[in-house]
Amino acid sequence: MEKPQYNTDIVKSFVHSSVLWGLVTVLVGLVVSVQLTNPELNFPPYFTYGRLRPLHTNAGFFGWVVGFIFATFYYIVQRLCKVRLWSDKLATFQLWFFNATIVATAITLLLGYTTSKEYHEMEWPIDLMIIILWVTFAVNIVMTIIKRKEEQMYISLWYMLAAIVGVAILFLVNSAAVPVSLFKSYSAFAGTNDANVQWWFGHNAVAMLLTAPPLAMFYYFLPKSTGVPIYSHKISIISFWSMIFMYLWTGAHHLLWTPVPDWIQTLAMAFSVMLIAPSWGSVINGYMSMKGQWHQMRENYLVKFLILGITFYGLQTLQGPMQAIRSFSAFIHYTDWVPAHIHMGTMGWVSMIGFASIYYLVPRIYGKELYSIPLANVHFWLALTGQLVWSISLWIAGVLQAGMWTAMNPDGSLTYTFMETMVEMYPYWWARTAGGALFFFGILVFIYNLFKTVRNGEKTAPLTAIAQGRA
Ligand code: HEM
Ligand code: HEM
Repeated sequence: MEKPQYNTDIVKSFVHSSVLWGLVTVLVGLVVSVQLTNPELNFPPYFTYGRLRPLHTNAGFFGWVVGFIFATFYYIVQRLCKVRLWSDKLATFQLWFFNATIVATAITLLLGYTTSKEYHEMEWPIDLMIIILWVTFAVNIVMTIIKRKEEQMYISLWYMLAAIVGVAILFLVNSAAVPVSLFKSYSAFAGTNDANVQWWFGHNAVAMLLTAPPLAMFYYFLPKSTGVPIYSHKISIISFWSMIFMYLWTGAHHLLWTPVPDWIQTLAMAFSVMLIAPSWGSVINGYMSMKGQWHQMRENYLVKFLILGITFYGLQTLQGPMQAIRSFSAFIHYTDWVPAHIHMGTMGWVSMIGFASIYYLVPRIYGKELYSIPLANVHFWLALTGQLVWSISLWIAGVLQAGMWTAMNPDGSLTYTFMETMVEMYPYWWARTAGGALFFFGILVFIYNLFKTVRNGEKTAPLTAIAQGRA
């Protein structure tokens, strides 16, 4: 079989963009965190919490996470299909268009243009840019898969395809709006329908951006890093199809106790609990793949990131279903418990897998050994402790908040005023900033290590072959 010549330049460029947007995400995350404890650090009109928070979430989702999805998918798809990317030109266009879209998003959000739909705040002209971006990506990946030389489709390709199709459908439906000017539109849906569509989109964005792609990476990079295959292809396929089937019904768990019809809420609750099974299918498959290899947790920094990542995924997919139960939701909804859940997912699961993937890719696409494994370990510990401090402090804050909000005097009046509950939050919010700062220092160490790898890393023949697209 003639040897394919892979495109590695595009992977490099997406890694650069993604790391840059990752840095912006955590930096703005730190700023909004400090703004909550020190409101005098709001600088109206542009640099207020209300405008910076969506900048943080969108830079996180669409810059950092989507950036490393593009980088890793382009690396993985060529190797799993044993062919070069279908179109280099389309991929290069996508790279520039991607960065232009994120910049346009950042500017319009700071200027105050927003649809006010969470994770979909961008106004309609940017929606159009996102659609063009996603179509170029989808065409390139799908065409590469169609002309593949490897008949079998490994599980990572299934997760990739699900993410591509899933995001396209969700985004198109939730984008339906009537523009009234260049930067103002009104949703095509009204009232509870609007809410229902929005959270069908919102939760499936979690499924299709924060779950399926990191699983595609986990299934590819874990065996590559340990040197042994995954435990069971059968489990991977069964959990894939059951996860895809179940996620789509769960969106209304964000709307418990609202005017959305009761049966829709109950359906969402039931499917959320059922989701534990397919989620844990992947977790168990990951753990079982480590059979006889657990010593690598000590010796192999990539394995540390990957296994801690899948562990947080496991915890996240137990906590999530719990939050989807009406009685539990009544207690924690609107409290700081929820951001703690989110950041265990985004910092613990998704970012850990992102870090591992980038640590795996950079030595290969540059043909140089990683500059410093001890520094990668320092990064690991900073990311882990930073995330734990972030989430644990806010779980405590959430329970305290919920307890104070629901406390009642014998005469039925509330024991605490809202301001009293706010004042109690300060120590926990400071702890969150401290956790965020640790995570941020970790990212600085990560970037320094990558930079030194590219500059001073030692060249080796097998890595050079990969960098030149020959392996
Ligand atoms: C079995 C899987 C999961 C279930 C059933 C689940 C359930 C939930 C529920 C019920 C909420 C709403 C909490 C509230 O506002 O009261 C929530 C919020 C959220 N979850 Fe999960 N979760 C799961 C997995 C994940 C994963 C893997 C991530 C990845 C990062 C994640 C990210 C989020 C995000 C970003 C939100 C916040 C949405 C918002 O802005 O309100 N979840 N989840
Ligand atoms: C240094 C690390 C980080 C810090 C200090 C930080 C800080 C914050 C703060 C203060 C909020 C607002 C919470 C609230 O509404 O009360 C927030 C929300 C959010 N952040 Fe982060 N963040 C960090 C990392 C990340 C990363 C890496 C991602 C994504 C990849 C991310 C995604 C989100 C999301 C989705 C929300 C919305 C939460 C919600 O709906 O309640 N964050 N973050």
